[in-house]
Amino acid sequence: MLSEKSRPIIEATAPVVAERMPHITPEFYKRMFAARPDLMDGMFSRSSQLEGTQPQALSNSIVIFATYILNNPDKYPDEVLSRVAHKHTSLGLLEDEYPTVYKYLFEAIAADLGDACTPEVAEAWSEVYWLMANALIKIEKGLYAQQANDVMRAPFKLVSRKETGDQVVDLTFEPADDTAMTEAKAGQYISLFTQAEDGLLQPRQYTLLPSEKNQRRVAIKLDPNGEMTKRHFALQEGDVVDISNPYGDITLGGFGDDGSGPLYLFSAGIGVTPMLAFLSELVDQNSQREVVVVHSSSSKDAWPLREEMEELVGKLANGKLISFLGDGSGDFEGRVDVSKLDVPSDASVYLCGPLGFMKDTRSALVDAGVPGVQIQYEIFGPDQWMLRDTARAE
Ligand code: FAD
Ligand code: HEM
Repeated sequence: MLSEKSRPIIEATAPVVAERMPHITPEFYKRMFAARPDLMDGMFSRSSQLEGTQPQALSNSIVIFATYILNNPDKYPDEVLSRVAHKHTSLGLLEDEYPTVYKYLFEAIAADLGDACTPEVAEAWSEVYWLMANALIKIEKGLYAQQANDVMRAPFKLVSRKETGDQVVDLTFEPADDTAMTEAKAGQYISLFTQAEDGLLQPRQYTLLPSEKNQRRVAIKLDPNGEMTKRHFALQEGDVVDISNPYGDITLGGFGDDGSGPLYLFSAGIGVTPMLAFLSELVDQNSQREVVVVHSSSSKDAWPLREEMEELVGKLANGKLISFLGDGSGDFEGRVDVSKLDVPSDASVYLCGPLGFMKDTRSALVDAGVPGVQIQYEIFGPDQWMLRDTARAE
């Protein structure tokens, strides 16, 4: 809990710190990578730094955390902390790096705020930083303790490579050593560590697809402007890569889904990946739940893993698949239109796809009477959205 001494200082300075964060963040990262270039080799994404969204997500989350604990003195924003902790553990982040971020972030804050950064202000924000850091460290330790092994990543050999949909590659890996594998929950992801063209080790996250227990299977959409998907596309059977243990808290029966009401799964494009994992789990459980899968793609050919999705839905006792395809070859033409679906207000909903698709679908669902708390989503990038929602909600 924030001390009574720091509370008024944080209250008074949060607006200015929030306003200055876009300027502070680049300086913080510049200082950190100048001193610790090794952090870019196997931990941070080089593209995220160039693009800027992920650094801003990290810095902004501290201001958002501060705002949250000011308004809710007895609580922490659990969903935000959980999302971040899962991402950190998938990257193998250890407790002893927290002083690194602290040092360079606070040097950058002091440099930017100048005289306004009095010792009292610095002390109050340090308290916020360590409250958040300690909360994350505690969750991260708990997540590491649940793994079947004590390594951050292990070597896996590519045993099958298939192309599907529009520029998507379906890759299946098996262990290349005797490290025990943690069983993944449907909806979880792994970090895949491969070398960039210049040899730098770069992690990227991929949602796990249904597979045999001794396998890790992912489907990767080529990003023509991205750095690593080109490299993943070039992988050949027999190649060995490093893969983390499975992490991620968007699972069935997680936040907002008590497993009782109807389940609606909305995906667009490569957003099919968590939905396939959910469907496979429901089939394995012989679930009698009403499950409605709504998918949007430009055409049947562009729809990744379409046949597998159709087959899984067909195996469910009460499953239904509805498609919105741009070329008119689906159940409906064009983008997802929630008004055509009659979604009941007790539905549990999962969304995955481009941010615009998820925002539009979520707004339409809320307008149609589905409470926001019942709508979960997986963002294939830094989660600026949940962070902002958390801030707005208070
Ligand atoms: P990156 O190099 O990371 O680039 C991404 C974007 O950054 C580019 O499109 C471009 O806009 C910008 N960028 C890159 N370089 C620069 C530069 N020099 N200057 C400015 N901007 C730049 N993807 C899947 O395909 N399947 C999945 O199942 C999947 N699951 C995911 C699950 C989670 C939890 C998360 C967080 C992500 C998931 N992703 C998934 C996304 C995946 O992790 C990668 O982000 C994606 O594959 C792009 O990787 P990349 O290296 O090709 O692109
Ligand atoms: C990602 C917050 C400490 C490394 C993130 C994200 C947030 C965040 C909000 C984005 C999560 C998402 O994808 O949605 C924090 C906070 C910290 C902290 C509040 C301290 C209190 C650290 C430390 C390190 C670290 C100590 C390592 C030195 C990373 C990396 C990513 C990340 C590598 C992914 C970014 C990328 O892909 O480039 N963090 N973090 N974080 N964090 Fe942290």
